[in-house]
Amino acid sequence: MELADLVRLFADSLDLAVVLTDVDLARPGPTVLYANPAFARMSGYAAEEVVGASPRLLQGPGTSREATRHLPRLLRTEGRFLGCLRNYRKGGEEYLCEIDVRPILGRDGTPQAFIAFEREVVRRRGRPSDGGTRRYRPAIGAASPLGDAAIPLFA
Ligand SMILES: Cc1cc2nc3c(=O)[nH]c(=O)nc-3n(C[C@H](O)[C@H](O)[C@H](O)COP(=O)(O)O)c2cc1C
Repeated sequence: MELADLVRLFADSLDLAVVLTDVDLARPGPTVLYANPAFARMSGYAAEEVVGASPRLLQGPGTSREATRHLPRLLRTEGRFLGCLRNYRKGGEEYLCEIDVRPILGRDGTPQAFIAFEREVVRRRGRPSDGGTRRYRPAIGAASPLGDAAIPLFA
């Protein structure tokens, strides 16, 4: 079974947005292999529109170049990117998106694909009392799979 079909089996019914890409981080890659219905609801792009495209289509004038440069670098060096950046829906509306990207490793330990778990967040009002760890809350009430971890802000 293809990896994308396997991911589809668990991710189609999740409320959390899931995007699977190939491992080619060099431009024009990476290429989306699968995106779940929660991603379509959040971004406004149907799965058919994003499969074969780059997640860069979510970027716009307010997207931090620092963050997007960091993303492939951290995936290569640390094996993970966790951050909050400004994405744009198909209709042009911007939204803050918490993104957790990790490689899916094959038996030989090499990355076979990247998988991103994404959710829309909104900034909490006021100054965080605990050094920034509770800067965001989910836009749609779903509990975070990450708890209240400190998410680096790039937006
Ligand atoms: C699985 C995955 C999901 C991604 N999701 C987003 C995203 O939601 N928004 C975004 O701006 N970039 C996202 N990216 C990053 C871009 O695809 C790209 O890697 C980044 O812009 C760096 O490339 P560049 O410097 O050539 O633009 C994602 C990357 C991967 C691997």
